[in-house]
Amino acid sequence: MLFTQFSLLSLALAWLRVPGSQAGFAGKSCRIMPLGASVTYAKGSTDGNGYGGTLYNLLYTDRNDVDMVGSQKGGNMSDPDKEGYNGFVISEINAKGNIAMPIYQPNIVAIVAGTNNMKRDIDATDAPNRCARCVVRDPVVVVSTLHPNADPPPEERILAFNAVLPDLVQSFVDGGKPVFLVDSHAVIAIGDLVDGTHPNDAGYARMGKVFYDGIQEAYRKGWIFDIE
Ligand SMILES: *[C@@H]1O[C@H](CO)[C@@H](O)[C@H](O)[C@H]1NC(C)=O
Repeated sequence: MLFTQFSLLSLALAWLRVPGSQAGFAGKSCRIMPLGASVTYAKGSTDGNGYGGTLYNLLYTDRNDVDMVGSQKGGNMSDPDKEGYNGFVISEINAKGNIAMPIYQPNIVAIVAGTNNMKRDIDATDAPNRCARCVVRDPVVVVSTLHPNADPPPEERILAFNAVLPDLVQSFVDGGKPVFLVDSHAVIAIGDLVDGTHPNDAGYARMGKVFYDGIQEAYRKGWIFDIE
């Protein structure tokens, strides 16, 4: 191989490894609370990190100061804190979020909530309103649609739930609240599920990227407050 070709190739490979190559914002203190049920806890993920692991890595690689917060721990990442509870429905997640938010004071909250409501058909029609009460004033709240379920009845409820989220989120934005919707449903397929409900590692990684992209948009809107 010609030397120039070789060095161009090395240069390209080196560039791919350059920290910050996601071209996101840098130098920001991000105190992130992943909030939700077992998907947030990262059930089904082989390293237990789930979407929080990907989110951490992407923001850290962009040279931000990333602090994951919450009263629970799971996974082998360096900072495994989260607010994720296996089996919880939205009302229970709300209750935990209301306690944890003032304690940890995140500037970013990454919410996936409602999978158990949809599976067990609990308050399914009321769920989006209940989810509204997950949302507090100060941090930017990045809410995800629910990813697909392999079982048709829950999936039908998931589609209905997801369909309501854009208007719900817009109503918060109209009221001056920093809330941003991201779409995990669009990037996870039935084949990405380990047990019909929980994503595999590849699915969690895409979910993490979807949250990351949403956080970039929230940053551009000036919605992520500075931590002293
Ligand atoms: C975390 O766990 C995964 C899966 O068991 C493993 O492949 C990986 O090496 C572990 N990472 C660390 C930092 O221990």
